Amino acid sequence: MPPHASLRSACAVLLVLVAMAGAAAAREFGAKAAATNGGAAAAVDSRPAVVLAVFGDSLSDTGNTFRAAGIPQADLYYQGRYSNGPIWVDYLAAAVSNTTQLTVLNYAHGGAAACPENGAAAQYPFIRDLPSQTSAFLADISAPQTQGQLGGGRRLLPVSFIGNNDVRNVLTAALGAGGFPTEQAVAALVGSITSCRLAWAQQLLGAGEAVWRQQRGAERVLVLLPVARLDITPSAPELLKPVLKTVTDAINNALTVAAAALNAELASAPVNSGSRGARLLVTADFSGVVGATVTPPFATLGADWGARGWSCMMEHA
Ligand SMILES: *[C@@H]1O[C@H](CO)[C@@H](O)[C@H](O)[C@H]1NC(C)=O
Repeated sequence: MPPHASLRSACAVLLVLVAMAGAAAAREFGAKAAATNGGAAAAVDSRPAVVLAVFGDSLSDTGNTFRAAGIPQADLYYQGRYSNGPIWVDYLAAAVSNTTQLTVLNYAHGGAAACPENGAAAQYPFIRDLPSQTSAFLADISAPQTQGQLGGGRRLLPVSFIGNNDVRNVLTAALGAGGFPTEQAVAALVGSITSCRLAWAQQLLGAGEAVWRQQRGAERVLVLLPVARLDITPSAPELLKPVLKTVTDAINNALTVAAAALNAELASAPVNSGSRGARLLVTADFSGVVGATVTPPFATLGADWGARGWSCMMEHA
């Protein structure tokens, strides 16, 4: 069993994007250095600088929910992650460290939903759902102490990876009420996740230079990771696998369609908005590799493990 294989595959998708962002940042940095130094070599770190802003749930949380509420428990989980080891954010940072000055601004919270109406923040107020993560990011970047994190030739790459908890919560509620969710309820769920994730992109694009600084037009790229395949999560009950597959596929198809529609709008956005040619990239789904490489996780937890949640996709062997 190759360790970390699943995480490497998740990483690979974003590695390419970070490399692209880094190359663009390097060109800008080079041009500025030449302009300010009269071409003299600057004695500074010449690696291009990329700021990865992460929005998501337990699959991406590197300690936010843990800092807020001490969850997940420290004796079983790795450093506030919902995993028994590093997660994709950690692997990505390590993988690009030689070539990129990567700053990670991580807003992901274990338990978070894309839409508050599908979330559990009412019972667990320490969980920040996607709109709340977005507000926190927007507040941070305008705060004096964090202003320096953006701009200055750094390339911002916002990434969102969220929606699995929306599915889990809605499904759990329906099953608790005695059955599978109705077709209308599934359609509403798919629609809500899609619109909340698109709203995230629109909010960041709408914030203009406050978020993007010198990046304009095609330099404004946002990444949507598809919702992870819940049906191949080790803890998914056999009975639910078909409905989980149907729902996950429907969400990701709807995301792809909605992103294409927004991209078409952005292609002809007013030039002075700075967003003409900005793009949402929906990456390929990598759950198949994840599912194929997860070995029985958390053996120490015993038979009740399945009841503890579905955040196991990022565990390594
Ligand atoms: C970074 O560079 C060092 C020294 O050349 C090398 O040993 C290491 O494997 C590189 N790390 C990555 C992730 O490429």
